[in-house]
Amino acid sequence: MPGLLLGDEFPNFEADTTIGRIKFHDFLGSSWGILFSHPRDFTPVCTTELACAARISDEFKKRGVKMIALSVDSVEDHRCWSKDVMAFNSAAESQLPFPIIADDKRELAVKLGMLDPDELDKDGIPLTARCVFVIGPDKKMKLSILYPATTGRNFDELLRVIDSLQLTAQKKVATPVDWKPGDKVMVIPSLSDAEAAQLFPNGVTTKELPSGKKYLRYTQP
Ligand code: BEZ
Repeated sequence: MPGLLLGDEFPNFEADTTIGRIKFHDFLGSSWGILFSHPRDFTPVCTTELACAARISDEFKKRGVKMIALSVDSVEDHRCWSKDVMAFNSAAESQLPFPIIADDKRELAVKLGMLDPDELDKDGIPLTARCVFVIGPDKKMKLSILYPATTGRNFDELLRVIDSLQLTAQKKVATPVDWKPGDKVMVIPSLSDAEAAQLFPNGVTTKELPSGKKYLRYTQP
């Protein structure tokens, strides 16, 4: 059964990290947050993912999103592995621009439902899957995605998703398939045409459909 659902308050856990002990809500402050777990330090897919996350960390910063990673290894391992990650980026002199949580007792992995039963360590204990949680400034969970250990994530997609979450938190719109910032958006179904006309001064266009139902309403936000 899923533990944490969209709209739930994200747990205010305490944990050791590469920047010291944190209380998660204090770490977030009034920012958005993204917590991404990975199976294990010193593994190839994870290294490419964290290197990518580091390369585009300014894009998360621009959007006011604090980044934090997690795996079931120690702070000491995380610090050592971070150097490999930055060397992979040909930036060996720079620090990894976000902290990594040390969940070596797997407490958070269990609490947040992050274990991958198909990926076991040498003792037969499950490793963490590739979870993504996006947390809003109200500390509520806005998005969760779960990938198995064998499939690396696309961090550009995570930025796209954050753009959608931040836009739809402000305006009564929804973003269609493959939406990118600047594209038209959809007026949400619960808004009447009269309300939509008031809310969207750029106008609303409705696509004619065989059903005659006028639910495909576009606007430029
Ligand atoms: C990896 O990061 O390369 C990896 C970790 C666990 C299972 C499979 C791949």
